[in-house]
Amino acid sequence: MRKKFIAGNWKMYTSKASSVALAKSVAEGVKDDRVSVAVCPPAPWLVAVAEIVKGSFVHVGAQNCHYASEGAFTGDMSPQMILDAGCRYVIIGHSERRHGLAEPDLFLNRKVKAATSAGLTAIFCIGELLAERETQQTEAVLAFQLDAGLSGLTAEQISRVVLAYEPVWAIGTGKVATPQQAQEAHAFIRQHIGKRFGNDVAQQMIIQYGGSVKADNAQEILKQPDVDGALVGGASLKAETFLPIIQAAS
Ligand code: PGA
Repeated sequence: MRKKFIAGNWKMYTSKASSVALAKSVAEGVKDDRVSVAVCPPAPWLVAVAEIVKGSFVHVGAQNCHYASEGAFTGDMSPQMILDAGCRYVIIGHSERRHGLAEPDLFLNRKVKAATSAGLTAIFCIGELLAERETQQTEAVLAFQLDAGLSGLTAEQISRVVLAYEPVWAIGTGKVATPQQAQEAHAFIRQHIGKRFGNDVAQQMIIQYGGSVKADNAQEILKQPDVDGALVGGASLKAETFLPIIQAAS
């Protein structure tokens, strides 16, 4: 049985004080580990948030990393630094970077390899644009992003990958994929992982859904057999809206 995994992506929101307060409320609200839970604050608050949730059931993730372990890379963070800051996870390839900042697949692949080799779990995001869905290219896009992003991963590395299916048209728009659309995409992704990495890896792979997940739509989506959790943006910024999503998963 795959354990559900709910992660909150705080993006470029929160102050130091509000991130610490939010992390504290989330940690207090998660009373057991029936569901895996992570919060992903902005980089400057990673250490403070990691300190606050220490000893609780909540883990911390960064929102991006570089693929080198160190070097002259102004403005970047290595996977080792993220680990050292107290994180377990790192989001890689979020559409706000993939599309918003034109991060190429080759870089995303290097980042996934570097993060998983360092001992982090990579939350690798994939998803189609609205125009791609409307022209029946969803599966081709997902297959391409999976093949490019996960190319050359060892068995050990792939065991540290979580996938997040985030249709770009559903992120921050209030437009959520129907449970059926989510299930279809997730089933396709699992099947594709099976072809590339074998059935055991596919069956164990956690595939989150992301895109306008809220307390009132979470249950229907999380009920789908191939949906193993959610990557939550807007609704993760308040404990009152995030905790009910974790509740819905358990
Ligand atoms: P949203 O963001 O829940 O605000 O749509 C999801 C995400 O970007 O991961």
